[in-house]
Amino acid sequence: MDTDRRRVIEIVNLQNKWRREQCVNLIASESLMSPLAERLFVSDFEGRYNEHSGPERHYEGTKFSYEIEEICNELFRKNFITRYADVRPISGAIANLIIYAALTKPGDIIVGLGIPNGAHISHTRWGVAGIRGLKNVDVAFNVATMNIDVDKTVEIIKKASPKLVMLGASMFLFPEPIREIKEQINPKIKIIYDAAHVFGLVYNKVFQRPFDEGADIITSSTHKTFQGPQGGIIIGNYKLLHEDWKKIDTAIFPGTLSNTHIHRFPALAITALEMNKFGRAYAEQVVKNAKALGRALFDRGFKVLCPHLGFTESHQLILDVRKHGGGQYVAKQLARCNIICNKMALPQDSPHDATHNPSGIRLGVQELTRWGMKEPDMATVAEFWKRAMIDKEPTERIKYDIIAFKKKFNKILYCFNPQKALHELEKVG
Ligand SMILES: Cc1ncc(COP(=O)(O)O)c(C=O)c1O
Repeated sequence: MDTDRRRVIEIVNLQNKWRREQCVNLIASESLMSPLAERLFVSDFEGRYNEHSGPERHYEGTKFSYEIEEICNELFRKNFITRYADVRPISGAIANLIIYAALTKPGDIIVGLGIPNGAHISHTRWGVAGIRGLKNVDVAFNVATMNIDVDKTVEIIKKASPKLVMLGASMFLFPEPIREIKEQINPKIKIIYDAAHVFGLVYNKVFQRPFDEGADIITSSTHKTFQGPQGGIIIGNYKLLHEDWKKIDTAIFPGTLSNTHIHRFPALAITALEMNKFGRAYAEQVVKNAKALGRALFDRGFKVLCPHLGFTESHQLILDVRKHGGGQYVAKQLARCNIICNKMALPQDSPHDATHNPSGIRLGVQELTRWGMKEPDMATVAEFWKRAMIDKEPTERIKYDIIAFKKKFNKILYCFNPQKALHELEKVG
């Protein structure tokens, strides 16, 4: 019993030290909250319930949880210039499920990217779309530009007559042609833009503006490039009909959720406030770093996709690593050196290869940016890659150098000054 207790504490300490102090983290879907957001993540809200929407709640004791939820909603309403935002979905996949529950019926068709082209599983029959009984049709994808082929996709949409078109992706290098698709399809078909990966860039207006370009609804996680607590969000275009938003509200509660994990709201509000103040500089540096890392890896002989397009316009890079042993092998080999990233299926992979040893690796630079790294540091990271995968230096030697390198980046940036903020916290208390 005592050893289990000790081990639990030890595991948390080991995790904190390893992933925060000793690794170069390139997982594209992860986030690092600011010290103040993290401090506010644990509070009495953690054990409370707050069912229903608006001021009418099913339990007493909810006046502060309602207020903090509303502060969050209002921050997102303001940023996206709309009346419709709801932070109750507990994750990005659940936000998509809520949309399906609200706006489709079992047997309906949805058009999405398809797994080989980077769709999230929740857009497919293997995920929550399948649980809702929806049928999938995939867009046409242009592998050379790693983007949707508009003409062929419009034809596919016209033929399939879907209820929804799910844009956005997990493999997401370039802004998608929302406007071009919207202008050519039946206006009754709703475009849902799943911004999970690029939400921090979209929020700070350095990627694309989904609502201006024709998306009806944005779904997202709140914890990838938007570096908040793990959770989900749904935002409606200001043009959305009130009756559609009502359906979404009902699909959230009582349809899909009871408890909405309200302890995340203070951290979410602080993250949004920090994004309002520091987010533009953060998001611009993320894209600069991604491009710089793409160039540095490419110059060292790695096959980074889309060199003719500057590699990326987001936080991500995609590499074809077949000649280095495939995505699974490369990800595991790099992890031995404390470089953390994940394997990725590429569009041309067979279903067998896609699951067993896909051709690709996906990288994201949002966390390195948060630690204060800039373009020259991306060359250092690329050099570690080369030493691991081309020079095949002993992993222990590379790991030693990575730990020394990471020591220089030990403060989380683009956030409120932690000392000042924590001092204020005590004063306010
Ligand atoms: C495009 C996309 N949508 C939704 C999700 C699911 O988000 P969550 O993990 O918050 O459920 C992901 C997760 O990586 C994603 O990439």
